[in-house]
This record gives sequence, structure tokens and C-alpha cells, in this order.
Amino acid sequence: MSLEHQSDVLIIGSGAAGLTCALHLAEHFNIHLICKGQLTEGATFYAQGGIAAVLDEDDTIDSHVNDTLKAGAGLCNKETVQYTVENSKAAIQWLIDRGVSFSTQNSSTQKNSHNKEAYHLTREGGHSHRRIIHAADATGKEVQTTLSDTVIKNEKIRLFENYNAIDLVTTHSLGIIGETNQCHGAYALNRQTGQVESFNAKYVVLATGGASKVYLYTSNPDISSGDGIAMAWRSGCRVANLEFNQFHPTCLFHSKANSFLITEALRGEGARLKLPNGERFMPRFDERAELAPRDIVARAIDHEIKRLGVDCVYLDISHKDPEFIKSHFPTIYERLLKLNIDITKEAIPVVPAAHYTCGGVVVDKQSTTDLKRLYAIGEVAFTGLHGANRMASNSLLECLVFAKNAAENIIKSAQQQQHPKIKIPKWDESQVSDSDEEVVVSHNWHELRHLMWNYVGIVRTTKRLERAKRRIQLLKQEVKDYYSNFRVTSDLLELRNLITVAELIIECAMRRKESRGLHYTLDYPELDAENEVVDTILSRVN
Ligand code: FAD
Ligand code: SIN
Repeated sequence: MSLEHQSDVLIIGSGAAGLTCALHLAEHFNIHLICKGQLTEGATFYAQGGIAAVLDEDDTIDSHVNDTLKAGAGLCNKETVQYTVENSKAAIQWLIDRGVSFSTQNSSTQKNSHNKEAYHLTREGGHSHRRIIHAADATGKEVQTTLSDTVIKNEKIRLFENYNAIDLVTTHSLGIIGETNQCHGAYALNRQTGQVESFNAKYVVLATGGASKVYLYTSNPDISSGDGIAMAWRSGCRVANLEFNQFHPTCLFHSKANSFLITEALRGEGARLKLPNGERFMPRFDERAELAPRDIVARAIDHEIKRLGVDCVYLDISHKDPEFIKSHFPTIYERLLKLNIDITKEAIPVVPAAHYTCGGVVVDKQSTTDLKRLYAIGEVAFTGLHGANRMASNSLLECLVFAKNAAENIIKSAQQQQHPKIKIPKWDESQVSDSDEEVVVSHNWHELRHLMWNYVGIVRTTKRLERAKRRIQLLKQEVKDYYSNFRVTSDLLELRNLITVAELIIECAMRRKESRGLHYTLDYPELDAENEVVDTILSRVN
């Protein structure tokens, strides 16, 4: 039996963005919150370095704003940057008030609201000041588990774990033409029963995270399959700047733990990047050396790996005091020790991997998308904060600031408007059967992620992009046929979304005829300050 649900607000996603929004709204509305796996599973849980905020007396809002603009290589929206940074201190205080415990100057202790010792602030690439507040090297885990515990206790928030949102339901998708297109809810697959259920809601918030799973090597968890971007695109929303996929310079290179992130805070605390012969190389590429923004460091590593024909480079912090290393980076120390790498004595083998989606669903200053009653927050959204390259630790900050912003705007909107009474029909399965060839899905998953890594990666060319585009057309057609004929599964839904996102990334990359920030192409290796200082905005009509 197909179930139907009704709430004031449906939030899709339970990371920093989704949970923060739910908690800000819960006093006013009944919330339904759905997520693909367990409540805690998402990129947020794995965040290591911390959250950027102006907290030190010697730091200034102007300095954080200027660093962000500089890292963003000319494409940040200045108003968005200013707004985000101005709200950074309050966002951190909100977390502390919820019980999040950050590391203190005496880094063996973590501080909560009753403890008066000063917080330890670390540094990361692009920041001209120590301004990253953190919980040792597991900031995301501390934020995610604290907010999850708070949400679980809140009676106004009903949780639906193991649900894959499939598509948004809109006035136009229901065949009601001639009226303003609005969002009325979503269909979601209950992964435990295999049934598709309908979620009616007056407002829908996309908080589905990024799309880095489109690449073969990624620091991201499996949920990061760009579902929100694809769903919004299918519903007619614009997307932007998807050519700017960030590759984190230092993920572990190891057969048993590929893509485990080695936080940039290691470099912030003095770790050096070295070639296999022990030579330090970053000063050759940028005067900020290991603390240059990520695009520069990732490209330098890629260049050295290809030049020397080696598998990886090395990150070395072994010159620091072992006690300092163990107390500041306990998670990394323990994890690597289990793999027989003692970071107090030896260097860590590292490679770049896909890490963050700077582009996303276009939103305005109220976090609303092009579709009425649909909001987008967190990594899925394109707010203009990151420009052509996100500065380290600005992402969790964006989640917190814009989740609150969206909540405030939903509250305001609900006071001013009536919601049209439209009920979502049940999901129609009359024309489909169970799949007889799951191999199509697994094979295409693999092929897509390989070709994106090889043809649409750190260094691009027009020829490689064209080749990728042609291959994706074939995959798209196969998956479309499959989707029309068979019952949906979680893997099929994610593959369908990844194909859409891959196509959009390639389209954005082909439109940008220059190299800027994270987008680097050998055919246009220079920045074009005359013609290309614009966002790449895609809409279904252009
Ligand atoms: P996520 O936390 O990814 O949550 C997405 C949610 O959406 C999940 O609950 C998922 O289940 C749900 N979802 C997705 N699709 C669907 C669907 N179809 N149906 C239902 N639910 C769905 N940023 C920083 O600022 N500082 C850091 O130190 C930092 N370190 C990082 C380290 C790692 C290893 C990684 C991967 C990222 C890091 N980042 C960091 C980036 C940052 O963690 C993310 O950008 C941020 O957490 C995104 O939060 P979010 O709420 O938008 O999405
Ligand atoms: C890291 O800890 O290096 C990741 C920080 C980020 O992605 O902002």
C-alpha cells in the first residue's frame, strides 16, 4: 500500500543545513524530515577541519570577506559573502548553545557553554588569519551528532530515515497548466518496503548536499549523488557554476582506505607537501606554498604526479612534537596507525579527490529557488558565496547561515500567503515491472564515474569534454529506458541523478572559455577578465 504524508514543511536532507533549518522552524510548524540513510550519514558527519568565523579580537569581517573573495577568483557575490561573514559569529554561538563542544587553546579539552577557556582557532588555505573553530579533527561528527540528538528529541519534527526523494511534485508536473508553478511536495522511495510514498507539504526545503560522487575518487560519502540538483533541474529551476567542482588536495592514497580525507588543518599547523624524494615543491608554485587556496595546491600536485609518473605525493608533519600531533589530530593519527602509518614519524601518501560542489541550484537572498515554495540550502544551493573556488571551512558556515535565513523566510511567507489546496496523487506503478538486469545500473555507475574522472577532472580540454558529452548521451538514453520500464531502486535513482549532474557539469565547463579557479582547461589556460567574469547559469530554455 502506498502511503501519503502531510506536513507544513518537508525538509529533504539531514546534514548541517537540513537539521539547522528544522530546528529553527520547529517552534512554528510541523516538519517532516527525510534522509537517504541514517540520520547522521552525510558529508557533514565527515567534516574535519572546522568552521570559518570571525571570532578572534584581532580578526575582522573585512579580512574574512577579502580572503573569501580572493579565493573565489573574481566570481563571488560580494553581498552574499558580506552577509555570510557578518552572521558567522552568531551561527557559531547558536551551535554552542545547542551543546556543540569545540576545542580550546589547551587542545586536550573541548569546551562547552559552561567553560570559559578560549577556543583554539586553526588555519587553512586562503585564510590570512587563524579563524577556524573546530572539534579536534572531527568537527563534523560533533556538529552532526549534537544536532541529530536535539532533533530526535523535538516532537514537532518527524524523521523518515532510509527514504530516497525521487522527484518534486509541482503544479505543472500535475498537468495544471496556466497557473503559477509551485512546489507541493515530493515522492520518495521507502528503501525498507520498496514502496513509493507521497509527501504533501506547504513548503519544501532541499538540503541534499553535493554531487562529488559523480567522480571516481572522492572524499564524499555515498549519499552525495547530486539528487537535489537533478530534482530541481527537472522541475524547471536554474542551476549555476557547476564547472567549479573542488578537488581536495590531500586525500589518503592507500588501497584499504582510498579517499579518507587528510584535513587541510594539518597544513595550517605546518605540514609540508613533498615529492617521493623528500623535496618540498609547493613554494615553486605559489608564495603561500602549502597554504595557497585549494585549486592551486590540487593542480600543483596533479602536475607533479603526472610529470614524475608517480602514484602520489607525501604530506609530512613528523617534524612537529608527537604530543601536539596526537592531541590536534587524534582521528587521523588513530586511523592511519591502523594502516601502519605513524604520522608522528613518517609522511602520509596523498592524492587529490573530488570534494565539494561550488555550483548548485540558483537561490536568491531569501534562499528561494525559481520554483515557488521550494527552498535550497547548504551544498546543494548556489548562493554566490564560493565563486570559482570555495575557501576552506566556509561550507559549514554557509549551511548554518542560510538554513536560518531559509527558516526565517518560510515563517514570513507563511504569515503572508495562503497555500493552494492540492493533493499529490499516488505514485503510479501500473506500467513497470521488477528489473531483470541490475548489471545495467552497476555497469553504468562505474562507467560514468570513470569518464568524469578522466575527462572532466582537474585539468580539462575541449576535446575531452566533447568526448565525455557524447558518452553521457548514450548512458542517459539507456537509463531513461530503464527508468520507464522498471520499478525504481535506490541505485537507479542515484544513477539517473548523477547522469543529469554530469551533463550539467560538462555543459557549464564547455561554456567557460577561460581558466579560472577550479576550472582549468589547456585550450584556454588564461583568465579572461574582459569577457568571462560571469556566472555560468543554465536554464532549461537556453
Ligand atoms: P550533507 O551533510 O551532505 O547532507 C545531505 C543530506 O541529504 C543527507 O542527510 C542525505 O541523506 C540527504 N539526501 C541526499 N539526497 C537525498 C534524497 N534523494 N532523498 C533524501 N535525502 C537525501 N566543510 C567545512 O566547512 N569544513 C570542513 O572541515 C569540511 N570538511 C569536510 C570533510 C569531508 C570529508 C567532506 C566530504 C566535506 C567537508 N566539508 C567541510 C564540506 C561540508 O562538510 C559539506 O559541504 C557540508 O557538510 C554539506 O552539508 P549539507 O547539509 O548541505 O549536506
Ligand atoms: C579539511 O578539513 O581539509 C576540509 C575543510 C573543508 O572542506 O572546508
